[in-house]
Amino acid sequence: MLRRARKTPDWRQTQGLNLATDTASLVLGIETTCDETAAAVVERRSDGSGRILSNIVHSQIEDHAPFGGVVPEIAARAHVDLLDGIVARAMQQAAVNFKNLSGVAAAAGPGLIGGVIVGLTTAKAIALVHNTPLIAVNHLEAHALTPRLTDALAFPYCLFLASGGHTQIVAVLGVGNYVRLGTTVDDAMGEAFDKVAKMLGLPYPGGPQVERAAASGDAERFAFPRPMLGRPDANFSLSGLKTAVRNEASRLSPLEPQDINDLCAGFQAAALESTADRLHVGLRIFRERFGAPHALVAAGGVAANQAIRGALQQVATAAGTQFMIPPPALCTDNGAMIAWAGAERLALGLVDSLEFAPRARWLLDANVTTPAKFANTRAGF
Ligand code: KG4
Ligand code: ZN
Repeated sequence: MLRRARKTPDWRQTQGLNLATDTASLVLGIETTCDETAAAVVERRSDGSGRILSNIVHSQIEDHAPFGGVVPEIAARAHVDLLDGIVARAMQQAAVNFKNLSGVAAAAGPGLIGGVIVGLTTAKAIALVHNTPLIAVNHLEAHALTPRLTDALAFPYCLFLASGGHTQIVAVLGVGNYVRLGTTVDDAMGEAFDKVAKMLGLPYPGGPQVERAAASGDAERFAFPRPMLGRPDANFSLSGLKTAVRNEASRLSPLEPQDINDLCAGFQAAALESTADRLHVGLRIFRERFGAPHALVAAGGVAANQAIRGALQQVATAAGTQFMIPPPALCTDNGAMIAWAGAERLALGLVDSLEFAPRARWLLDANVTTPAKFANTRAGF
């Protein structure tokens, strides 16, 4: 239920940053969808530009590392323990009082449902007690809108989102107006990095470990497949490549350190080549459907990978568009991106009722297109 009729704005109307209805706002944002407990206060000025007043992120990696991955129950309990203190710190650091807030935003999904419930319920309590609007934010939308906070990027642009749970190419056409151009049909890219790391005995989270090992490895030693190469759609697939690494690793077992480096280098090179090809196709589809994008933007933990960043830069240059990447702390999960997405929605009058239900799955383009073929896969949410 919405306080006001939810409108899906046409991207042509929201293309510029100046909206006639704009007023300045101050929004508290809460993020608890995975293993980061985070809160931030962001200001959105009336010209549409943004400023981060505070951004507190507590990573629970140490709690989950012994298990080799995020344990939902442990994450939810940690959010309960930590969130109040983190919200208080965010408010204090921003020197903002609850009564000065224009709204409170929480990531209402997609994500691990226990954590989402903790964050959304906390936001609802603040909204109720301080009589301020609630904005239920799609976590993916928050990643998608971050370059408007950091660089005042105008619509439309192309987003490559690659994290532990998502791998998508998205046409970002306006607030609330997203079209998924490609998605993974099996594993998310960060998930594949993590699983490869685990099978090679490297600690969690595996992405940075695989990147480090790959730097000393020979990418040519193994002829790993390049998934989806040359396919006319812009989808990804990573499980076949992951299995090829597993097969090679068990053939070589016991592994020498150089074997591990070479396996990581081979895996990363194949993932990278496939990504470049998929983005090349994605940008072509974007141009055919929506005209030239203002930028190719990368977000999500995998975007921290230097080799992948280099490949994305090349793809953007070849497509005649600029490559943009928010600073690392705003690429990975954080509260500022939730606050900012909340502020963008608030400026359009898009607020939500206190009955808004948390969502484990929530397609970014659910309001705009029919669900993609792979909507029910883990990585397709
Ligand atoms: O966005 P993020 O911090 O959290 C979510 O998954 O939402 O992304 C974490 C993922 C993990 O799978 C991690 O292994 C991967 O991003 N990652 C990397 C690198 N740094 C983090 N993958 C490849 N190379 C990296 N340098
Ligand atoms: Zn995320």
